[in-house]
Amino acid sequence: MSSSAGDLAEELRELLVRAREQGALEALQGVFRTFVEGHATPAPQAGDVPGRFGLVGDSKAMHVVFDLIERVAKSSVPVLIQGATGTGKELVARALHDHSPRAKYAFVAENCAAVPANLLESELFGHKKGSFTGAIADRDGHFVVADKGSIFLDEIGDMPLAMQSKLLRVLEENEVRPVGSNKVRKVDARVIAATHRDLAQMVEDRSFREDLYYRLNVIRIPLPPLSEREGDVAILTDFFLRKLAGEMGREVPEVTPEAQALLEGAPWPGNVRQLENEIRRSLALSRGIIDIVDLSPSLAG
Ligand SMILES: Nc1ncnc2c1ncn2[C@@H]1O[C@H](COP(=O)(O)OP(=O)(O)OP(=O)(O)O)[C@@H](O)[C@H]1O
Ligand SMILES: [Mg+2]
Repeated sequence: MSSSAGDLAEELRELLVRAREQGALEALQGVFRTFVEGHATPAPQAGDVPGRFGLVGDSKAMHVVFDLIERVAKSSVPVLIQGATGTGKELVARALHDHSPRAKYAFVAENCAAVPANLLESELFGHKKGSFTGAIADRDGHFVVADKGSIFLDEIGDMPLAMQSKLLRVLEENEVRPVGSNKVRKVDARVIAATHRDLAQMVEDRSFREDLYYRLNVIRIPLPPLSEREGDVAILTDFFLRKLAGEMGREVPEVTPEAQALLEGAPWPGNVRQLENEIRRSLALSRGIIDIVDLSPSLAG
């Protein structure tokens, strides 16, 4: 006579209880974990990649950046990060916050180019309920949320002139007035700004306020383009290969000397982001080895 489904389920339950009591399940989990770890690409660890503050690189140009980060992270003076697209401006901003005494408080980022001019003021300084259509409740702005922490004003060169004057007031008085409110509120947020634009030129053209420029530009961290970071393409290629292969659950492929030479000689107008995307693409296309044919035809410039 065959047992019923109920009997089988009961038998299975008892077996599992006994297996757990005897530590068999844990042993099996251990074997399984060892198997998975043995077959996946381990993520690159800090320490086995040259670089600092979460930024990979070992070129002279990047050591200048590391040195600046180390010297200014601990203070609260404003920092202006200047660099072309994909050079790591956001990474530097986070590094400054993470290595400051403010690290346990908020890091709030705003992309000044992405928010419509009329909303930017309320985003940064907050608003009172009913102060404009859609303001259905009081809302704290980023400066209040970032109190005791850091506020990252990304693409500051795209901030409209009217907003620049309001920002300058906040930086001078250390207080914000939410839209629609007549009360000011003290704030203490460390300001980190970034831009790919030439702000000094914008000051000359009168599209950026000179007084705000001097206020933000207390410490300037220029980020070199990837083409000026000698030796870093090879280091970054190795880093991204291991990181991305790990994320894709694949083994790290070899790169042929021809492909490596092409990567190291490419102009990289999109800087580190372009290199990262190139490696992602080549990983997706390659069959275990990365050769010239797996790289973008446009790479040679
Ligand atoms: N030195 C570096 N080491 C490792 N990864 C980096 C480095 N620099 C940049 N990256 C990576 O490249 C990408 C672009 O970096 P990030 O967003 O910081 O650049 P950005 O200068 O802010 O670019 P954009 O001007 O386009 O906003 C991110 O995925 C970042 O993690
Ligand atoms: Mg950015």
